Amino acid sequence: MLTQENINKINALKKQFPDNKSLTIPALHIAQEQFGWVSEDSMKEIASLLNLPESHVIGVATFYSMFNKKPVGQYHIQVCTNVSCQLLGSEKISQYICNKFNIKVGETTSDKKFTVSEVECLGSCGTAPMMQVNDDYYENLTPEKIDHILQDLK
Ligand code: FES
Repeated sequence: MLTQENINKINALKKQFPDNKSLTIPALHIAQEQFGWVSEDSMKEIASLLNLPESHVIGVATFYSMFNKKPVGQYHIQVCTNVSCQLLGSEKISQYICNKFNIKVGETTSDKKFTVSEVECLGSCGTAPMMQVNDDYYENLTPEKIDHILQDLK
């Protein structure tokens, strides 16, 4: 269940949006901030709060990869594998990170600290290859840079 504070936040946002449908993404962000992911129960709760069909909220949440549909680790590493990043070795980068943690893409380390995902373009093609860790972008990646980033996160 969303906290009362987050329910109040969503209700307050209603005044700033033309209709409840356009509030779907901000409401999903609020749920994800609270839980770290968006469960089916959260989607249903948001649908009820916004008086929208559950199918609409589920459709939006499942369309966007930025919404985690299952729990992720403390650090969610999202490696862009779209064209620009792919041309500059993103698949090797994703494999390099997975090997360091001894997991596969889509998995979380046993200490629940790191999840590695491959995602579509994150809009930073000019600094490919790149990845996003939680809300931060790391660009022009090399194995050395990755070692440094992961060391800092540990
Ligand atoms: S292709 Fe990777 S950021 Fe656009």
